[in-house]
Amino acid sequence: MKIIKKASEMQRIALKLFKCGEEVGLVPTMGALHEGHVSLIGKSVKHDDITVVSIFVNPTQFGPNEDYLKYPRLFEQDIKICKKNHVNYVFAPSVSEMFPDGYKTFVEVKDMQDILCGEYRKGHFKGVATVVAKLFNMTMAERAYFGIKDFQQLRIIEKMAKDLNFRTKIVPCPVIREKNGLAMSSRNSYLSENEIKAAAGISKILKGAKADFKEKDAVQIIKKVYAGLESLPESKIDYVEMRDYNNLSKININAKKAVLAVAVWIGKTRLIDNIMLVK
Ligand code: PAJ
Repeated sequence: MKIIKKASEMQRIALKLFKCGEEVGLVPTMGALHEGHVSLIGKSVKHDDITVVSIFVNPTQFGPNEDYLKYPRLFEQDIKICKKNHVNYVFAPSVSEMFPDGYKTFVEVKDMQDILCGEYRKGHFKGVATVVAKLFNMTMAERAYFGIKDFQQLRIIEKMAKDLNFRTKIVPCPVIREKNGLAMSSRNSYLSENEIKAAAGISKILKGAKADFKEKDAVQIIKKVYAGLESLPESKIDYVEMRDYNNLSKININAKKAVLAVAVWIGKTRLIDNIMLVK
Protein backbone atom coordinates (compact mmCIF):
# COMPACT_ATOMS: atom_id res chain seq x y z
CA MET A 1 0.00 0.00 0.00
CA LYS A 2 1.32 3.40 -0.95
CA ILE A 3 0.62 6.70 0.82
CA ILE A 4 0.36 9.70 -1.49
CA LYS A 5 0.47 13.28 -0.24
CA LYS A 6 0.72 15.28 -3.48
CA ALA A 7 -2.17 15.91 -5.87
CA SER A 8 0.22 15.82 -8.85
CA GLU A 9 1.44 12.34 -7.84
CA MET A 10 -2.13 11.09 -7.36
CA GLN A 11 -2.97 12.37 -10.85
CA ARG A 12 0.13 10.84 -12.42
CA ILE A 13 -0.66 7.42 -10.90
CA ALA A 14 -4.37 7.68 -11.82
CA LEU A 15 -3.53 8.48 -15.44
CA LYS A 16 -1.09 5.55 -15.63
CA LEU A 17 -3.71 3.17 -14.20
CA PHE A 18 -6.33 4.53 -16.62
CA LYS A 19 -4.04 3.97 -19.60
CA CYS A 20 -3.42 0.38 -18.46
CA GLY A 21 -7.19 -0.20 -18.28
CA GLU A 22 -7.15 -0.63 -14.48
CA GLU A 23 -10.42 0.58 -12.91
CA VAL A 24 -10.04 2.73 -9.80
CA GLY A 25 -12.55 2.71 -6.93
CA LEU A 26 -12.46 5.76 -4.65
CA VAL A 27 -13.57 5.84 -1.02
CA PRO A 28 -13.52 9.48 0.13
CA THR A 29 -13.21 9.86 3.92
CA MET A 30 -12.16 12.29 6.63
CA GLY A 31 -10.35 9.47 8.48
CA ALA A 32 -11.01 8.17 12.02
CA LEU A 33 -12.04 5.08 10.12
CA HIS A 34 -14.64 2.70 11.56
CA GLU A 35 -16.63 -0.28 10.28
CA GLY A 36 -18.86 2.02 8.20
CA HIS A 37 -15.83 3.16 6.20
CA VAL A 38 -14.47 -0.40 6.09
CA SER A 39 -17.70 -1.61 4.48
CA LEU A 40 -17.22 0.94 1.67
CA ILE A 41 -13.60 -0.14 1.28
CA GLY A 42 -14.70 -3.80 1.11
CA LYS A 43 -17.10 -3.06 -1.73
CA SER A 44 -14.41 -1.27 -3.72
CA VAL A 45 -11.82 -4.00 -3.12
CA LYS A 46 -14.37 -6.52 -4.39
CA HIS A 47 -15.43 -4.59 -7.51
CA ASP A 48 -12.46 -2.49 -8.60
CA ASP A 49 -8.94 -3.32 -9.77
CA ILE A 50 -7.46 -0.64 -7.55
CA THR A 51 -8.85 0.93 -4.37
CA VAL A 52 -7.93 4.47 -3.35
CA VAL A 53 -8.99 5.75 0.08
CA SER A 54 -8.71 9.49 0.56
CA ILE A 55 -8.20 10.81 4.08
CA PHE A 56 -8.68 14.55 4.33
CA VAL A 57 -10.39 16.54 7.06
CA ASN A 58 -11.81 19.14 4.72
CA PRO A 59 -11.83 22.60 6.34
CA THR A 60 -14.19 24.03 3.69
CA GLN A 61 -17.08 21.85 4.87
CA PHE A 62 -16.91 22.98 8.52
CA GLY A 63 -18.63 26.16 9.71
CA PRO A 64 -16.75 28.70 11.89
CA ASN A 65 -18.32 27.36 15.11
CA GLU A 66 -18.08 23.67 14.19
CA ASP A 67 -15.70 20.93 15.26
CA TYR A 68 -12.92 21.21 12.61
CA LEU A 69 -10.15 21.52 15.21
CA LYS A 70 -11.44 18.81 17.52
CA TYR A 71 -12.42 16.36 14.71
CA PRO A 72 -10.61 13.06 15.49
CA ARG A 73 -7.36 12.60 13.57
CA LEU A 74 -6.05 9.03 13.86
CA PHE A 75 -3.74 8.72 10.88
CA GLU A 76 -1.52 5.84 12.08
CA GLN A 77 -4.56 3.75 13.06
CA ASP A 78 -6.29 4.60 9.75
CA ILE A 79 -3.24 3.44 7.79
CA LYS A 80 -3.28 0.09 9.64
CA ILE A 81 -6.99 -0.34 8.87
CA CYS A 82 -6.42 0.45 5.18
CA LYS A 83 -3.48 -2.00 4.95
CA LYS A 84 -5.47 -4.74 6.65
CA ASN A 85 -8.35 -4.22 4.22
CA HIS A 86 -6.28 -4.43 1.02
CA VAL A 87 -6.35 -0.76 0.02
CA ASN A 88 -3.83 0.01 -2.74
CA TYR A 89 -3.37 3.76 -2.23
CA VAL A 90 -4.14 6.15 0.60
CA PHE A 91 -4.36 9.71 -0.65
CA ALA A 92 -3.79 12.02 2.31
CA PRO A 93 -3.08 15.56 1.10
CA SER A 94 -2.44 18.57 3.35
CA VAL A 95 -4.86 21.49 3.45
CA SER A 96 -2.45 23.68 1.46
CA GLU A 97 -2.15 20.94 -1.17
CA MET A 98 -5.94 20.86 -1.66
CA PHE A 99 -6.67 24.53 -1.07
CA PRO A 100 -3.51 26.55 -1.70
CA ASP A 101 -3.45 30.31 -1.03
CA GLY A 102 -5.55 32.11 -3.60
CA TYR A 103 -7.87 29.14 -4.18
CA LYS A 104 -11.09 30.44 -5.83
CA THR A 105 -13.22 27.69 -7.40
CA PHE A 106 -16.22 26.05 -5.73
CA VAL A 107 -19.01 23.67 -6.73
CA GLU A 108 -22.58 24.33 -5.58
CA VAL A 109 -25.60 22.10 -6.04
CA LYS A 110 -28.35 24.71 -5.84
CA ASP A 111 -31.43 24.14 -3.66
CA MET A 112 -30.39 20.64 -2.55
CA GLN A 113 -27.51 22.22 -0.61
CA ASP A 114 -29.81 24.58 1.31
CA ILE A 115 -32.36 22.14 2.81
CA LEU A 116 -32.12 19.69 5.74
CA CYS A 117 -28.54 19.86 7.10
CA GLY A 118 -27.75 22.71 4.69
CA GLU A 119 -30.14 24.95 6.55
CA TYR A 120 -28.21 24.46 9.79
CA ARG A 121 -24.71 24.09 8.31
CA LYS A 122 -24.41 26.99 5.85
CA GLY A 123 -21.80 26.31 3.17
CA HIS A 124 -21.29 22.70 4.30
CA PHE A 125 -22.35 20.99 1.07
CA LYS A 126 -20.51 23.53 -1.07
CA GLY A 127 -17.34 22.41 0.74
CA VAL A 128 -18.28 18.74 0.33
CA ALA A 129 -19.15 18.99 -3.38
CA THR A 130 -15.97 20.96 -4.12
CA VAL A 131 -13.61 18.54 -2.40
CA VAL A 132 -15.34 15.49 -3.91
CA ALA A 133 -15.17 17.01 -7.42
CA LYS A 134 -11.44 17.58 -6.93
CA LEU A 135 -10.98 13.99 -5.71
CA PHE A 136 -12.87 12.63 -8.73
CA ASN A 137 -10.58 14.57 -11.04
CA MET A 138 -7.40 13.58 -9.24
CA THR A 139 -8.18 9.86 -9.03
CA MET A 140 -10.09 9.42 -12.33
CA ALA A 141 -12.24 6.97 -10.36
CA GLU A 142 -14.52 4.60 -12.25
CA ARG A 143 -16.63 4.22 -9.11
CA ALA A 144 -16.90 6.13 -5.84
CA TYR A 145 -18.51 4.75 -2.70
CA PHE A 146 -20.74 6.82 -0.40
CA GLY A 147 -22.68 5.81 2.71
CA ILE A 148 -26.46 6.10 2.87
CA LYS A 149 -25.78 7.27 6.44
CA ASP A 150 -25.13 10.74 4.95
CA PHE A 151 -28.19 10.58 2.73
CA GLN A 152 -28.30 14.22 1.65
CA GLN A 153 -24.58 14.16 0.87
CA LEU A 154 -25.10 11.05 -1.29
CA ARG A 155 -27.94 12.63 -3.28
CA ILE A 156 -26.00 15.89 -3.73
CA ILE A 157 -22.92 14.05 -5.01
CA GLU A 158 -25.07 12.01 -7.42
CA LYS A 159 -26.59 15.24 -8.74
CA MET A 160 -23.21 16.93 -9.05
CA ALA A 161 -21.75 13.94 -10.92
CA LYS A 162 -24.70 13.99 -13.32
CA ASP A 163 -24.77 17.75 -13.87
CA LEU A 164 -21.00 18.09 -14.35
CA ASN A 165 -20.71 14.95 -16.54
CA PHE A 166 -18.28 13.11 -14.29
CA ARG A 167 -17.53 9.59 -15.53
CA THR A 168 -17.41 8.36 -11.95
CA LYS A 169 -20.35 6.15 -10.97
CA ILE A 170 -21.69 6.76 -7.47
CA VAL A 171 -22.26 3.59 -5.44
CA PRO A 172 -24.58 3.97 -2.41
CA CYS A 173 -23.68 1.73 0.55
CA PRO A 174 -25.90 0.64 3.49
CA VAL A 175 -25.65 2.21 6.94
CA ILE A 176 -23.47 0.19 9.33
CA ARG A 177 -24.74 0.34 12.91
CA GLU A 178 -23.55 -0.54 16.41
CA LYS A 179 -25.33 -3.45 18.13
CA ASN A 180 -27.57 -0.92 19.90
CA GLY A 181 -28.65 0.52 16.53
CA LEU A 182 -26.58 3.72 16.66
CA ALA A 183 -25.28 4.56 13.18
CA MET A 184 -21.49 4.42 13.25
CA SER A 185 -19.81 7.79 12.94
CA SER A 186 -16.38 9.25 13.66
CA ARG A 187 -18.22 11.80 15.84
CA ASN A 188 -19.60 9.05 18.14
CA SER A 189 -16.24 9.24 19.95
CA TYR A 190 -17.44 12.57 21.41
CA LEU A 191 -20.31 10.81 23.26
CA SER A 192 -20.19 9.82 26.95
CA GLU A 193 -21.62 6.45 28.06
CA ASN A 194 -24.96 8.02 28.99
CA GLU A 195 -25.08 9.96 25.74
CA ILE A 196 -24.50 6.74 23.78
CA LYS A 197 -27.55 5.26 25.49
CA ALA A 198 -29.61 8.31 24.55
CA ALA A 199 -28.25 8.33 20.98
CA ALA A 200 -29.19 4.67 20.52
CA GLY A 201 -32.81 5.80 20.88
CA ILE A 202 -32.64 7.64 17.54
CA SER A 203 -32.53 4.50 15.38
CA LYS A 204 -35.26 2.85 17.48
CA ILE A 205 -37.54 5.83 16.86
CA LEU A 206 -36.81 5.69 13.11
CA LYS A 207 -37.59 1.97 13.04
CA GLY A 208 -40.90 2.71 14.73
CA ALA A 209 -41.68 5.27 12.03
CA LYS A 210 -40.96 2.70 9.33
CA ALA A 211 -43.58 0.40 10.85
CA ASP A 212 -46.05 3.31 11.28
CA PHE A 213 -45.70 4.35 7.61
CA LYS A 214 -48.05 1.51 6.64
CA GLU A 215 -51.07 3.23 8.31
CA LYS A 216 -50.07 6.77 9.30
CA ASP A 217 -49.59 9.84 7.10
CA ALA A 218 -46.49 12.04 6.98
CA VAL A 219 -47.79 14.64 9.47
CA GLN A 220 -48.62 12.00 12.10
CA ILE A 221 -45.27 10.26 11.65
CA ILE A 222 -43.24 13.46 11.95
CA LYS A 223 -45.14 14.47 15.09
CA LYS A 224 -44.45 11.10 16.73
CA VAL A 225 -40.77 11.06 15.76
CA TYR A 226 -40.37 14.64 17.02
CA ALA A 227 -41.92 13.72 20.38
CA GLY A 228 -39.75 10.59 20.62
CA LEU A 229 -36.51 12.46 19.89
CA GLU A 230 -37.46 15.28 22.25
CA SER A 231 -37.84 12.79 25.09
CA LEU A 232 -34.26 11.46 24.72
CA PRO A 233 -31.97 12.78 27.49
CA GLU A 234 -29.87 15.84 26.54
CA SER A 235 -31.48 16.07 23.08
CA LYS A 236 -32.11 19.12 20.91
CA ILE A 237 -33.67 18.62 17.50
CA ASP A 238 -32.44 20.46 14.37
CA TYR A 239 -34.99 18.84 12.05
CA VAL A 240 -37.26 15.88 11.38
CA GLU A 241 -38.27 15.72 7.72
CA MET A 242 -39.75 13.35 5.19
CA ARG A 243 -38.50 13.90 1.65
CA ASP A 244 -38.61 12.27 -1.76
CA TYR A 245 -36.31 9.26 -1.69
CA ASN A 246 -34.66 9.96 -5.03
CA ASN A 247 -34.18 13.73 -5.16
CA LEU A 248 -35.00 15.11 -1.67
CA SER A 249 -37.86 17.24 -3.00
CA LYS A 250 -40.94 17.85 -0.80
CA ILE A 251 -43.33 14.90 -0.85
CA ASN A 252 -47.08 14.91 -0.93
CA ILE A 253 -48.97 13.51 2.01
CA ASN A 254 -49.81 10.22 0.24
CA ALA A 255 -46.30 9.37 -1.00
CA LYS A 256 -45.58 5.63 -1.21
CA LYS A 257 -41.81 5.95 -0.70
CA ALA A 258 -39.79 8.50 1.23
CA VAL A 259 -36.70 9.08 3.30
CA LEU A 260 -37.21 10.12 6.90
CA ALA A 261 -34.16 12.16 7.89
CA VAL A 262 -33.31 13.60 11.29
CA ALA A 263 -30.56 15.71 12.84
CA VAL A 264 -30.43 15.83 16.60
CA TRP A 265 -27.95 17.06 19.17
CA ILE A 266 -27.19 14.75 22.08
CA GLY A 267 -25.35 17.04 24.49
CA LYS A 268 -22.68 18.80 22.41
CA THR A 269 -22.67 16.23 19.58
CA ARG A 270 -24.75 16.63 16.43
CA LEU A 271 -25.95 13.28 15.05
CA ILE A 272 -27.77 12.50 11.80
CA ASP A 273 -29.66 9.39 10.80
CA ASN A 274 -32.29 8.36 8.29
CA ILE A 275 -34.48 5.50 7.18
CA MET A 276 -36.25 4.59 3.97
CA LEU A 277 -40.06 4.37 4.30
CA VAL A 278 -42.09 2.28 1.86
CA LYS A 279 -45.83 1.59 1.83
P1 PAJ B 1 -16.77 10.71 6.52
O1 PAJ B 1 -17.73 11.22 7.53
O2 PAJ B 1 -15.42 10.25 6.95
O3 PAJ B 1 -17.49 9.55 5.73
C1 PAJ B 1 -16.86 8.95 4.63
C2 PAJ B 1 -17.85 8.02 3.96
O4 PAJ B 1 -18.21 6.99 4.87
C3 PAJ B 1 -19.18 8.75 3.57
O5 PAJ B 1 -19.60 8.30 2.31
C4 PAJ B 1 -20.11 8.32 4.68
O6 PAJ B 1 -21.48 8.32 4.29
C5 PAJ B 1 -19.62 6.89 4.94
N1 PAJ B 1 -20.06 6.45 6.27
C6 PAJ B 1 -19.88 7.07 7.46
N2 PAJ B 1 -20.48 6.38 8.45
C7 PAJ B 1 -21.08 5.31 7.88
C8 PAJ B 1 -21.87 4.22 8.36
N3 PAJ B 1 -22.17 4.11 9.65
N4 PAJ B 1 -22.32 3.30 7.48
C9 PAJ B 1 -22.01 3.41 6.16
N5 PAJ B 1 -21.26 4.41 5.64
C10 PAJ B 1 -20.81 5.34 6.48
O7 PAJ B 1 -18.59 12.01 4.56
C11 PAJ B 1 -17.47 12.45 4.66
O8 PAJ B 1 -16.49 11.85 5.41
C12 PAJ B 1 -17.02 13.71 3.94
O9 PAJ B 1 -18.10 14.60 3.83
C13 PAJ B 1 -16.41 13.43 2.53
C14 PAJ B 1 -17.40 12.77 1.59
C15 PAJ B 1 -15.14 12.56 2.68
C16 PAJ B 1 -15.97 14.77 1.89
O10 PAJ B 1 -15.07 15.45 2.68
